[in-house]
Amino acid sequence: MSLVSFRKLEKNYGPLRIVKGIDLEIGDKEFVVLVGPSGCGKSTTLRMLAGLESVSGGEIRIGERVVNKLPPRERDIAMVFQDYALYPHKTVYENMAFSLKVRGVGAAEIKTRIAQAAEMLGIGQLLDRKPSQLSGGQRQRVAMGRAIVRRPQVFLFDEPLSNLDAKLRGQVRTEIKRLHQAVGTTIIYVTHDQVEAMTLADRIVILKGGEIEQVGTPDEVYNNPASVFVGGFIGSPAMNFAKGAIRSGEIVLDGGATIPLHRNSAGRTNGLEGREVTVGIRPEHFVPAGQGHALSGRVQVVEPLGSDTLIHFALGSSTLTARVAPDMRPGPGESLSIGVDPSRIHLFDAATERAIN
Ligand SMILES: Nc1ncnc2c1ncn2[C@@H]1O[C@H](COP(=O)(O)OP(=O)(O)O)[C@@H](O)[C@H]1O
Ligand SMILES: [Mg+2]
Repeated sequence: MSLVSFRKLEKNYGPLRIVKGIDLEIGDKEFVVLVGPSGCGKSTTLRMLAGLESVSGGEIRIGERVVNKLPPRERDIAMVFQDYALYPHKTVYENMAFSLKVRGVGAAEIKTRIAQAAEMLGIGQLLDRKPSQLSGGQRQRVAMGRAIVRRPQVFLFDEPLSNLDAKLRGQVRTEIKRLHQAVGTTIIYVTHDQVEAMTLADRIVILKGGEIEQVGTPDEVYNNPASVFVGGFIGSPAMNFAKGAIRSGEIVLDGGATIPLHRNSAGRTNGLEGREVTVGIRPEHFVPAGQGHALSGRVQVVEPLGSDTLIHFALGSSTLTARVAPDMRPGPGESLSIGVDPSRIHLFDAATERAIN
């Protein structure tokens, strides 16, 4: 049984349709990440679930209850915000204790819960400090601690790592994953960062313009993106796209290069003849020329990363990026022979931009 469900959930601001009918079932103990570009309605969706924003249409259920009209404090949810939202004049201990006191939890129980959470987050030595005496990463941990002590049915996180520098972001991300493994509570987490989505989620929900574009495990959305949008959004460096058409069982790219059409056991090439397509190739799926179908391009820019090399090269009218072994260092302007594995090519309908399976 699902713990949280959205049924045809909508949010309008006057004539503006912001969330356009979201259907989603989230299971108990699941870690679900809502990901999408800025302005696609992630925070609005989360805030409706938390009760901080009214619902314009459809239904939100937590367990068996429809919570559309339920005040936030009766929803058994704790939310962690991007800007932490700590009380500046209270100590860390008081910040963590406050919502428990309001709910009538006894002093001894509060102490036990704070000690446990502080231990889990490594903030035991900070309990007497004020938020102004903490670093950004420490404040974020306190904000998480304040949510944990409430022992809610569901944790909501809205871009909790956005204000941290890159190194700290990685650390706190790992802590959040560890936290989920330790407490096993349902987490619904919003971010615009596909790396956070891929690393944290049991299931990723990709939103675009207030609608769900695809729902799947990280592997599913990476391996089988449902659209050009998902293919380009998930994965870094981003998937390459080139226009082309299917002719005589081959993909003919604009500019003339050809790639054999991969045929799986289900004979997926059936009915594709003549179809206009957008071809998607991930940078990491290029291989040395001898190991795949060879393509000839011209090198534009080479970026050594230490662990590997990025080669940006012209192929017909497109510029593509390949991630290759670190010792491969062609010079700008040189001709390049590079291979692709036809089975790793993604095909999308040129007009609808939906995957062709
Ligand atoms: N109170 C409001 N009035 C009008 N438009 C709003 C309001 N709040 C948010 N929006 C609009 O709703 C869209 C989605 O916002 P939001 O859910 O915050 O996006 P995200 O969190 O995905 O970046 C944005 O275009 C934003 O400008
Ligand atoms: Mg937001």
